[in-house]
Amino acid sequence: MKPQTLPLNRPKTYRVKSFGCQMNVYDGERMGELLAEKGIAPAPEGEEADLVVLNTCHIREKAAEKVYSDIGRLKKEDGTKPIIAVAGCVAQAEGEEIMERAPSVSMVVGPQAYHRLPDMLDKAVKGQRATDTDMPAIAKFDSLPKRKKRSPTAFLTVQEGCDKFCTYCVVPYTRGAEISRPYSDLIDEAYRLVDAGAREITLLGQNVNAWSGEDANGRRAGLGELIHAIARIDGLERIRYTTSHPNDMDDALIEAHGSSDKLMPYLHLPVQSGNDRVLKAMNRAHTAESYLRLLERFRTVRPDIALSGDFIVGFPGETEAEFEDTLSLIDEVRYSQAFSFKYSPRPGTPAATMDNQIAPEVMSERLHRLQARLNRDQIAFNEASVGKTCQVLVERKGKHPGQWLGKSPWLQSVWFEGEAQIGDLIEVELVEAGPNSLKGALLTPAIA
Ligand code: 5AD
Ligand code: SF4
Repeated sequence: MKPQTLPLNRPKTYRVKSFGCQMNVYDGERMGELLAEKGIAPAPEGEEADLVVLNTCHIREKAAEKVYSDIGRLKKEDGTKPIIAVAGCVAQAEGEEIMERAPSVSMVVGPQAYHRLPDMLDKAVKGQRATDTDMPAIAKFDSLPKRKKRSPTAFLTVQEGCDKFCTYCVVPYTRGAEISRPYSDLIDEAYRLVDAGAREITLLGQNVNAWSGEDANGRRAGLGELIHAIARIDGLERIRYTTSHPNDMDDALIEAHGSSDKLMPYLHLPVQSGNDRVLKAMNRAHTAESYLRLLERFRTVRPDIALSGDFIVGFPGETEAEFEDTLSLIDEVRYSQAFSFKYSPRPGTPAATMDNQIAPEVMSERLHRLQARLNRDQIAFNEASVGKTCQVLVERKGKHPGQWLGKSPWLQSVWFEGEAQIGDLIEVELVEAGPNSLKGALLTPAIA
């Protein structure tokens, strides 16, 4: 790789553009904190920054092409290019190629190496381009600055990586093997987030329910025990977690949904397909039936739990009858919301070279039918919520004066009018349902 000949000006401002999952959002925030520690300020809204970090996602479709077109478009007001860093999963998967194809990129940094961004930047300003896609397990978290972000809702990465190797998925290659952050580090970070104003924490991991560690007494702990420990933090009112794999669910986590008031009644549990042959070809290692039985256990301990999932249509070889099994599963579960995708062949994954790839128009038609069912259930879930009273955590102002937006315990967006502040937990009655949000009517003043 050729070093750049011209030294660059040290950047005064930065912008991190994160794509994809919530973990990328978390990583993006942490990269921002690292840069801020080095005296680089976030660029003002509407202005291009001196340093732009593209925090990329590789999970579906033409991810790399999008990165190249984003790089091409980046320009400062004076027509020059900002310093560009490519981070995230495309950086991990295609780092060398990016360096070759995009001479304006100064740094390529993988998801496990971004704590080294400030050092790479020092090199970049001297005109040396740098790539770091090492996967040094846990080192990253130890060398990140302490959390200071002020927000009523916060993410906390507890686990990273994936050992499941679903045959369609790039994550095991881009994020590496499953690792769990130590219990005491997580409790410390959770306290710091609450000190900085967080009332809701979402625990993150590619397989968050595979988290395991040792508690303060040296006893083995899983996600259920970790949730109970975090729930003891005064001032923290809500806990969520995402994303889980059906095969890592243990009794303690299911039990926590029945016994912890702070654990919200919401479960995102991807199934991908409702057909056992397809599930086997995907290497999911569970059946439709075992998945349904698992959901039943959650519903037994927490009858009002809202269920969410992920679906892929058009996996190689999927027949019409097999696709209809997915529709039947949806009819049985009745999700409150869900995410659905056309299968996208990812380079280097086993499914990309399987026979019987499905034609794009067949995939589109199946996705359309599947989403019609999911929408039907989402609307029904929202309509069934009308008349309930619940707490809303206020996250931001609405479009009109006096209007506020927040989330219900079931992760629905709720808006209401009246006296409130960001970070309040407000008791409302849900009075009107739309497909994507509900209207609330204020019942009592904020619970301080
Ligand atoms: N094609 C389509 N969807 C995919 N997902 C992961 N890999 C692919 C792929 N190759 C979806 C799965 C997963 C979600 C994060 O993205 O549904 O749960
Ligand atoms: Fe990808 Fe499967 Fe791992 Fe989820 S469990 S990240 S879909 S390989």
